[in-house]
Amino acid sequence: MKQNTEKAAAGNAGPARLTALPEWKEFEQAARSASIDPSRLALISAAGIDLDISGQYASPALQEAGEALLAARDFDNGRRQLLEGAIVNPTEGRAAWHTALRAPAAIPEVAAERQRLIEFIHNADSERRWRNIVHIGIGGSDWGVRLAVAAFGYAGTWRNVHFVANIDGHAIQGGLSGFDPHDTLIVMASKSFATSETLENGQRAREWLQAAGVPDPCKQMVAITARPETAQEWGIPEANIFRLWDWVGGRFSLWSAVSLTTALAVSADVVAGMQAGAAAMDKHFAESPVPENAAVQMALSGIVNRSILSYGSLNIAPYDFRLANLVPYIQQLEMESLGKSVDLSGNPVDVPTGPAVWGMPGTDSQHTFFQWLHQGSDGAPVDFIMCAHADHGWPHHHRILLANCLAQRQALLQGKSYDEALKECLADGRPPEQAEWLAHHRVYGGGRPSNLIVLQRLSPYTLGALLALYEHKVFVQGLIWGINPFDQWGVEYGKMLASGLTRELAGTGPLGRGYDASTRYWLERLRDPCTDT
Ligand code: F6P
Repeated sequence: MKQNTEKAAAGNAGPARLTALPEWKEFEQAARSASIDPSRLALISAAGIDLDISGQYASPALQEAGEALLAARDFDNGRRQLLEGAIVNPTEGRAAWHTALRAPAAIPEVAAERQRLIEFIHNADSERRWRNIVHIGIGGSDWGVRLAVAAFGYAGTWRNVHFVANIDGHAIQGGLSGFDPHDTLIVMASKSFATSETLENGQRAREWLQAAGVPDPCKQMVAITARPETAQEWGIPEANIFRLWDWVGGRFSLWSAVSLTTALAVSADVVAGMQAGAAAMDKHFAESPVPENAAVQMALSGIVNRSILSYGSLNIAPYDFRLANLVPYIQQLEMESLGKSVDLSGNPVDVPTGPAVWGMPGTDSQHTFFQWLHQGSDGAPVDFIMCAHADHGWPHHHRILLANCLAQRQALLQGKSYDEALKECLADGRPPEQAEWLAHHRVYGGGRPSNLIVLQRLSPYTLGALLALYEHKVFVQGLIWGINPFDQWGVEYGKMLASGLTRELAGTGPLGRGYDASTRYWLERLRDPCTDT
């Protein structure tokens, strides 16, 4: 890794203001004159994934302007720095070198840790130990593992896995219940080993083991962290600590030993397959020219949708029940990375940045919020994700699922005009006056942007490639907006306030100064019930 802490400490000159760039003006202008052309078919193949961008605003001028904008942001150099492990996160003075965790030729420290992990898994599997796992971690130390375990263990696994993330005591209560403490492994995943949710829940798990008479509870606990000394001080034996590094961002830690739970639940082959797929996408990202680069094209259309067409959100629509956890995974990846409005020079970014990300698997989503996507006043671009082949034995189910995905996308893309709606209403046998009135309610504006992402089938390889695709898209968008996609200062202030308020709720003396009237009221009112428990 190319360390450059001095430069990071001295600060970064930072990028020029986006809207001051002539290349931005060209890009904006080209986007405003572009359209979604229903007769266009635009496909990119990358690492086992087909990306169909036909449903996005496009024109040759926009493509050209996008390339010029990337050049103005020194894209080639930025991408190289990311992939070589240079400091691309200057506000924390760190690299964001998650690609090193999945590179086919691992650097020695990664290879050594991987080997330790494989031995741990091999021993557990050959002794058939740990029928139950409680995975304790939050955010990046949780979502990726949850996603992989649900994606490949949806039909049941030999080991039972409970995930505990939330500080809400009901979460750990439920997480421990029904498990035999003598055959339960507690996995504490925390890069910082300082996250209060994880430490409190870990402590409850330790007490639970102790109460059940487990002789040395911490021997049944594993920590995955970039702070091995802190985990050791907490009580976890050295042999049970797997490390990650400061140069792995929390929301990218799925590629590290944090995937121990995935390996124990659905096999180490799943983890290796995901890494191989992600590495293939890294190669595609590193080597493909801009017009054929899947992540770059997704990034550019995302910028058009957010910063020029002013769509405030992005909907993720996986038409695969096994990918339910993809939505929160991408939510954290995109919103923690791009939820910023100050650029690396410290200036406000003068266009809207990262959209709100939300979604739900289809077809449930169709019966929940698709009405809003089709006819609501705002609308949102949609990323449809589907698998060409299913892994169950009911082809008819899969046909219906695929048809639904294509149908929703077609409706967003093509829409339905008033005349078409009127024709339908008349064909239903309605009197003309009623048909004319009803037709207004049956119009679909269409022209709403979408991507269609098709995996041949849901395999570890394609899932890994899919996640890497989104990671690189986010990186490119951060580069264009001029923001740092690798820090998350926005979550720190709330954490600090919460620890002060926790002390206030536990105390009995006078409340501190400086609270707004409402917070003061609720602190006074809630003090009693909290101290009672
Ligand atoms: O929510 C902030 C955050 O720091 C995330 O970036 C991270 O994934 C999560 O908390 C958990 O952090 P840790 O792995 O250090 O416990």
